[in-house]
Amino acid sequence: MKVIIEHCESILSKWLWFEYSNCSKIVGKNNLIFTNVREDEISNKLSRLGIVFNESIISLVNRGAFNCNEIIILDLEATTPLGPLDFKGYTKVVIGGILGDHPPKGRTYKLITSRLPNCVSRNLGPYQFSIDGAAYVALQVSLGRSLDEIPIALGFKIKVNEFHEIYLPYAFPIVDDKPLVSRDLIEYLKSNEIVEDELKSIQSSLHEA
Ligand SMILES: C[S@@+](CC[C@H](N)C(=O)[O-])C[C@H]1O[C@@H](n2cnc3c(N)ncnc32)[C@H](O)[C@@H]1O
Repeated sequence: MKVIIEHCESILSKWLWFEYSNCSKIVGKNNLIFTNVREDEISNKLSRLGIVFNESIISLVNRGAFNCNEIIILDLEATTPLGPLDFKGYTKVVIGGILGDHPPKGRTYKLITSRLPNCVSRNLGPYQFSIDGAAYVALQVSLGRSLDEIPIALGFKIKVNEFHEIYLPYAFPIVDDKPLVSRDLIEYLKSNEIVEDELKSIQSSLHEA
C-alpha cells in the first residue's frame, strides 16, 4: 500500500513536519507520496520523507497520472468504513495533509473528496486521527486487520510541568500498548518553542491581513 498525502496547509509547520516524518517511518519513504507541494523549499524538505509532486492529487487524477481505480480517499465524512477487501483492488490511500480541527470541519471533503467525484472514499471510524495515525490504521487494514481489531485511545494528555497539561482531543491507535504519537511532536509541545511559533504565526497573519 502506498500513502498519498495531499498537502493542504499553507505552511509546513513543525507540528505538520513531525506528523509527516512519522508517516514516512510508518509506511517507508518509498511508499509515501506528497502532492500539492507548491513551494520549492517545502518540496526539498519533503523529498527527505517521500516522493514529491507539486501538482495536486486532483490535477494528477484529471490528467491520468493517477487513476480512480487505484486510490481510496480517507475522509471522516465517507459513509463506508475501510476494510481489508478494499485492498484487493485499490493500492493507494489519499490522506489529507490537514492538521486536526476540533471538532472536524469537513476540510477533507471540501478540499479533496468533493473534487474527485469518481474516486471512492472510506472512513476509519467516527473519530478523528492525526495524519500519521490515519496512515498507521490504513496500513494495518491493508495487512488484513479490520477496524474493530485495531485498538485506539481517545484523547492524549501531555504533562508539560506540575501546573500545565496539553490535551490532544483526537484518536490514537495503540501500538505496543502505547498511543501512537510522534516522540518529536511530544517533545516539541512540551517545549516553549510551540508558544513562540504560534505567536510568530499570529503576527504574520495579522501582518498579511
Ligand atoms: C487530522 S485529520 C484532519 C481532518 C480535518 N479536520 C477534516 O475536517 O476533514 C487528517 C487526515 O487524516 C484522515 N483521517 C483522520 N481520521 C479519519 C477518519 N476517522 N476517517 C477517515 N479519514 C480520517 C483524513 O484523510 C484527514 O484528511
